Amino acid sequence: MAKLISLGQYTYYARWFIASVFGKKRPLVNTMIINFECNLKCKHCSIHGNASNLPDVKRLSYADAVEEMKLGFEKGARILFFEGGEPTMWKDGDRTVSDLVEAGKGIGYFVTGYTTNGTNVIFTNSDVISVSLDGPKEVHDKIRCSDGVYDMLMANLEKVDHPNIFANMTIMKENKDLLRETVDIVSKSDKIHGIMLNFLTPPPFESMLTLDEKKEIVRQAIALKKEGAPILNSGKALKEMLIEDYGETCADWVSMFVLPDRSHHYGCPMRGTESCKKCGFDAVREYSLITRGNVQAIMQMSKRFAFSSD
Ligand SMILES: C[S@@+](CC[C@H](N)C(=O)[O-])C[C@H]1O[C@@H](n2cnc3c(N)ncnc32)[C@H](O)[C@@H]1O
Ligand code: SF4
Repeated sequence: MAKLISLGQYTYYARWFIASVFGKKRPLVNTMIINFECNLKCKHCSIHGNASNLPDVKRLSYADAVEEMKLGFEKGARILFFEGGEPTMWKDGDRTVSDLVEAGKGIGYFVTGYTTNGTNVIFTNSDVISVSLDGPKEVHDKIRCSDGVYDMLMANLEKVDHPNIFANMTIMKENKDLLRETVDIVSKSDKIHGIMLNFLTPPPFESMLTLDEKKEIVRQAIALKKEGAPILNSGKALKEMLIEDYGETCADWVSMFVLPDRSHHYGCPMRGTESCKKCGFDAVREYSLITRGNVQAIMQMSKRFAFSSD
């Protein structure tokens, strides 16, 4: 049965890819920002403290979230990712993000996932879980503006066993010299199964790396990958992270976004802004490479993000 489902998923992706080659731009990922609430105030956060013009509505209701999942599915999305704010703080009555994951699976999404700061419960029913890790304890806590955050993350990870938890590192001035140390934490962990590297996308501009600093990080990351480090970015995407103004190349239509007020973006909410000219997100490089048929990116991303774990 699992094999049959996988075959269906492979076929769907193949058809989506062929359609995209012929100019049919349908989203594959539905990124739902389900809430703006958060228990932290991280220095670099694109939502807390740094974002302007966020909608006043702070949280999607369960019923609205399910409607939005259905709409995204009808548009073509098969990968469902919950973002925040802090998704594990999302609630509607007794319902948590875990119920949203179940609803997404029920609708037919192939893969569900969410990103978390790891200080709350880590719900394990989703296929992919991304935990933020910005460096060793001292630097992680400094960036996350609160003592004890690193220890809470590690303690919560100890309570769970999941094959597809990976770390998401945002590289900025504060942690730029700690790539190897951070990758080492992941290599030694039996709870975290890989690390995805991103550069900070401003604001805040003062924490952003210069292009030369980024070049040095990419050099180190490629060398670490050659040594066998569990870096999930494809090699080609790492190199394309040096194209800061990625707007021309960006296949942002691969992901649609839903905000807590149910506003939609078919493409990146930051397109055309100053942030867009300094984009540090790996995912958009991978999306673009996938639509260009880059085998490395297709293989690397499909291993982790394209198929259900069962
Ligand atoms: C907005 S957070 C939401 C999920 C959760 N609260 C967390 O911190 O993991 C999602 C991811 O985006 C990263 N992030 C936040 N601000 C960013 C920025 N300005 N540039 C790049 N990544 C950023 C966070 O570090 C986190 O890994
Ligand atoms: S935990 Fe996540 S959402 Fe909260 S402030 Fe930090 S990066 Fe932003």
